[in-house]
Amino acid sequence: MVKIAPSILSADFMRLEEEIRAIEKAGADIIHLDVMDGHFVPNLTFGLPIIRRIAKTATRPLDAHLMVTNPQDYFQPLADAGVTYVSFHPETVFHVHREVRRIRELGMKAGVALNPAKPVQDVFPILSELDFVLLMSVNPGFGGQTFLPLVFEKIKMLKNEMTRKGADLEIEIDGGVTHTNIGDLAKAGVSMFVAGSYIFQSDHYEKQIERLRCSVN
Ligand code: DX5
Ligand code: ZN
Repeated sequence: MVKIAPSILSADFMRLEEEIRAIEKAGADIIHLDVMDGHFVPNLTFGLPIIRRIAKTATRPLDAHLMVTNPQDYFQPLADAGVTYVSFHPETVFHVHREVRRIRELGMKAGVALNPAKPVQDVFPILSELDFVLLMSVNPGFGGQTFLPLVFEKIKMLKNEMTRKGADLEIEIDGGVTHTNIGDLAKAGVSMFVAGSYIFQSDHYEKQIERLRCSVN
């Protein structure tokens, strides 16, 4: 079963509550939250006060993708808010393994997010400690960018290493996901799909989510 995680980055922020209800009704499995600080990425979105508010409204698990230079400051508040999945970029912390453990100790699912140019081998030593790996298929910062096929090679290497180690974790793809690539991505072993503009730029969210699901066989 594939999990579709709409990214509210492409939602109408003036109508956030309505938008969240709409994607849930449309069949979203997870709600993807792109937290950007204007430093790690050249864009600024929202932080903890908004996430706390979203958590009160949302009925689906929340997935916080931290594109910030101080992700460790978010872990405890995200756990308190009831967030389920948390990923951070390894170049933003000194001790990746320690931070992964902290996320899990707080009762959340831990993920490491890798930019397109980051080697996937970076997560190999800690595979057994991870619940998921988020592979960026665009450079982080903005919605609506074109999918980078280089991610296929990284999925393949990650899958091989998972098999070799018997590691059970999920692969999440983030950026440029559409009905044209989701089938191949799923075949390659991806189970969590972030989709922002593909869903929110349409006025029929349910149809878009359905179209993504139908393109996976
Ligand atoms: C980019 C974000 C993505 C983004 C995806 O930095 O991490 O989650 O919202 O948007 P689309 O699906 O439009 O590429
Ligand atoms: Zn994201």
